[in-house]
Amino acid sequence: MYKELLDLNHIPQHIAIIMDGNGRWAKAKGKLRGEGHMAGAQALHDLMITVCNLGVKYLTVYAFSTENWRRPDDEVNGLMKLLFKKLDIDIFMDNDIRFCVIGDTARLPKDVQERMNYCISRSANNQRGTLTVALSYSSKWEITEATKKIAKQVKEGLLDVEDITDETIDKSLNTSFMPDPDLLIRTGGEVRLSNYLLWQCAYTELYFCDTFWPDFDEEELCKAIYDYQQRERRFGKTSEQVTDHSENHINDEYK
Ligand code: FPP
Repeated sequence: MYKELLDLNHIPQHIAIIMDGNGRWAKAKGKLRGEGHMAGAQALHDLMITVCNLGVKYLTVYAFSTENWRRPDDEVNGLMKLLFKKLDIDIFMDNDIRFCVIGDTARLPKDVQERMNYCISRSANNQRGTLTVALSYSSKWEITEATKKIAKQVKEGLLDVEDITDETIDKSLNTSFMPDPDLLIRTGGEVRLSNYLLWQCAYTELYFCDTFWPDFDEEELCKAIYDYQQRERRFGKTSEQVTDHSENHINDEYK
């Protein structure tokens, strides 16, 4: 049991997940891809609670990329319907979880946008944790939008080019309200970032596993966190400089 091995004083404050493998999970079981996504949604629900119970403050999951719009219409429509169904405010209120979204949400169906915005505003003051779902999201889209925002400020004389820092960019991204991820997990066996949080993961620890997303449970999560806890995060410093774990966070202002 990996849970028993965890150092509870060294839990990552932000975990990002690429939930991959719903389709292959379904195929292996002789089911339809849509059933894989349904099982994936259940796995997300269960994991959100587990993550909160462990004391992780931010969970950010990749549910639908800008590239996913190119999937067959029936799969896209099925995913949108599933999303609509799963955006249940009671889950967020009962568990004191704030719900947030990043991505080009204007492309989502109107009913999904309305339900999503309702969940965002009603759960805005919840304290226990923050679940952010990346929907119609890609890092290249997000960075392009941030660049346009900054260029506009320069053009309007509100910002001097010489005053642009990495913080200016941080603040212009969709993710400006969250710390950078400490740990990024990708399930499903692929070893790539697929246009997800590329700027934000500059110093994030990466963890890849073969488990298909619907099978990623508490034990799998604890295994990933245990693996993370064995690593030394140096952020460009020397090993001697970072041996004190209390300095081993990049995002202390969000605590
Ligand atoms: C990747 O698996 C998964 C997706 C593209 C969708 C993720 C959606 C969910 C987990 C459920 C819905 C989410 C919410 C927020 C209710 P894949 O289809 O690419 O799997 P494959 O690589 O095996 O084909």
